[in-house]
Amino acid sequence: NKGNYEHYMQKEIHEQPESLTTTMRGRLIRGGSCKSKSVLLGGLKDHLKTIRRSRRIIFIGCGTSYNAALAARPILEELSGIPVTMEIASDLLDRQGPIYREDTVVFVSQSGETADTLQALDYALENGALCVGITNTVGSAIARKTHCGIHINAGCEIGVASTKAYTSQIVVMAMLALAIGDDTISSQARREAIIDGLFDLPSKVKEVLKLNKEMKDLAQLLIAEQSLLVFGRGYNYATALEGALKVKEVALMHSEGILAGEMKHGPLALVDETLPIVVVATRDACFSKQQSVIQQLHARKGRLIVMCTKGDAASVSVGGSCRIIEVPQVEDCLQPVINIVPLQLLAYHLTVLRGYNVDQPRNLAKSVTTQ
Ligand code: M6R
Repeated sequence: NKGNYEHYMQKEIHEQPESLTTTMRGRLIRGGSCKSKSVLLGGLKDHLKTIRRSRRIIFIGCGTSYNAALAARPILEELSGIPVTMEIASDLLDRQGPIYREDTVVFVSQSGETADTLQALDYALENGALCVGITNTVGSAIARKTHCGIHINAGCEIGVASTKAYTSQIVVMAMLALAIGDDTISSQARREAIIDGLFDLPSKVKEVLKLNKEMKDLAQLLIAEQSLLVFGRGYNYATALEGALKVKEVALMHSEGILAGEMKHGPLALVDETLPIVVVATRDACFSKQQSVIQQLHARKGRLIVMCTKGDAASVSVGGSCRIIEVPQVEDCLQPVINIVPLQLLAYHLTVLRGYNVDQPRNLAKSVTTQ
């Protein structure tokens, strides 16, 4: 049921304040007088000790689910102190990469049925690793075969382009990081800030959704383009990859997510006065590096669209020539949840304006059950 919306993708983008609330329901605890803030993940409680002892955590997924894990990787590394590596399921299988008994392997999948992810799960089980599932489908193959897991609880997602599952997956993995991380005095303030940030996230997503009209105008401007680049780094490298994936998948426009730190190692050659480039430059530890990326792109006459924190327009707009997308600020590790929303809206409007099928893009299936 699409309710008042024209398309499922549109509905699913706009229901993110609610889907995020459902994902967090009953899992965040702002304790009473003497109890500090904490996270409760029922499906993991018997395995937390083993996870904390693991030598390595490996995230495995495909497409958007991989990108969600990439967004959560820095906070998991920070809070757990355990090395976290990333695997695209098919690539791990192609290489038959090493997996050990001392590894915890986290399988991320909206459908819980993706063939590559499922086969990678069989492979990790054979190698004796502890396998954790993060899926949006109760009773799915990945949910059943893993040793333990966390349901995303984002509600059924129908549009082939994953939107609300992505933001809920990031939130689930941020909660996973809080659950694994030690409650040491030194990390307490950071943990509490993240938990407070999680509580506030649905209202901030509501706020960023107000950019709908602005994103429609931007889509109008980009309607006839051949290509769009998206630059990000740090927490928002994932935003660049996921924003570009949305645009190519539904709007059928070539789009590439680029790690801004790699700019000078090739992508800079593409920059001219015609190619549109989105630069994600919201406030975090990478901000000044992104400011210098913007300056360098501007010096090559790049056609820039900069996403920045509210109030930062003047600090990112070199020569007053960039188009600006201002978003609300949240705790740095949760910022990818906010930053992807304008790009989801942009992909949606581009698709409708270009006259393509939003919910059922050509050649794609919601659940990729064959290899
Ligand atoms: O169901 P899964 O999360 O395992 O699906 C993985 C990918 O096929 C999926 O995310 C795909 O990239 C989406 N269509 C992206 O919007």
